[in-house]
Amino acid sequence: MGEITAVNTILGQGDPTPAEKLGYDHFMLKEIHEQPQALRDTMGMWLTGESVFLREIDFQSEKIRTLEKIFIIACGTSYHAGLVGREALEKLTGLPVEVDIASEFCYRDPIIPPNSLIIVISQSGTTTDTLVAMQGCLERGVKVIAITNAVNSTISKKAHCTLYTRAGSEIAIAATKSYVTQILALIILALHLGAVRKTIEEPQYRGLLKGLNALPHQVQQLLEQAGDIAELAQRYATHEHIFFIGRGLDYAVAREGALKLKEISYIHAEACAAGELKHGTLALVTQGVPIIALATQPHVLAKTLDNIRTAKERGARIIAVGTAQGRGLRELAHHLIEIPTTHPLLSPILTVLPLQLFAYYAAVKRGCDVDKPRNLTKSVMTE
Ligand code: M6R
Repeated sequence: MGEITAVNTILGQGDPTPAEKLGYDHFMLKEIHEQPQALRDTMGMWLTGESVFLREIDFQSEKIRTLEKIFIIACGTSYHAGLVGREALEKLTGLPVEVDIASEFCYRDPIIPPNSLIIVISQSGTTTDTLVAMQGCLERGVKVIAITNAVNSTISKKAHCTLYTRAGSEIAIAATKSYVTQILALIILALHLGAVRKTIEEPQYRGLLKGLNALPHQVQQLLEQAGDIAELAQRYATHEHIFFIGRGLDYAVAREGALKLKEISYIHAEACAAGELKHGTLALVTQGVPIIALATQPHVLAKTLDNIRTAKERGARIIAVGTAQGRGLRELAHHLIEIPTTHPLLSPILTVLPLQLFAYYAAVKRGCDVDKPRNLTKSVMTE
């Protein structure tokens, strides 16, 4: 194990920690199981029982009130966290939010209004693509907030202020606990900005705080289903193509689920917005093709069910992820993974858990090197 070391100082769980698997077969599995604690540690810094307090955001309230637009820039899993965070930021701040892949952002000469806020997300804090994009923003004089897991990393030193996730060391190349804590940081930031801008109703604020506080326990509950998910993953591990579908936040999580599966199991996995299936990808859905269908968002549930039904009629095997409120899902699914009920904006933190476990157990079944997938590195320091 001596060959794997964390690059930067990582906060949380009594770090800096030695790289030990603590009885787990792989670091990835250990890190999946550390998610309740990672959420508690990250939340603990910013949530009091009654409110959110982000002392790191030292901009004048006036600056926050006059913001025009938010950009989120990141790569890979961190980009996927940004896709989830966009929804909370738009809903709670009333501002338009654009989410960009860092390596695209820097070369497309984006229009950035002067009163913009840039949020860069990077677990390692050293990803070159993200750094290059960030540098361009700094040169234009806009405010930059970093969300990272690594103290004193290059990204945190360059940003105007940093929100540190307390995920603890993440050794496996596949990001897991960093993803859920990044989403958490974005939601808490959205609550903070919304409170200053007075764009959040009191009941909504209270409801989200209550939901956030319940998350670590709900994640723990989900982890107790690991055995069932392992069985499911082993059953489908011989397939060479698996599709993930969902609408809204479920589509954002579907993209992360597909990335996780392909990077560690080498199964070709593709995420498709459920409504887009019929515009092309449906041609690949034949007898027995597995589709992991996410259906946790109440306002698009009926439409998602229609899309699942269409895929099932073409022969797809449906592995559904939904809540007890998801009427009709159980009847459509060949397998149902039930996630605890929470506020729809928070559900990605729960929905991703079974997808991480599915990817992990499928990769183990296929004999893959789970912690160190071929061709990939933990910190990508090339463009
Ligand atoms: O350290 P970063 O968050 O900047 O890394 C960005 C991506 O390379 C990273 O999220 C990658 O996609 C994951 N390790 C995949 O699981």
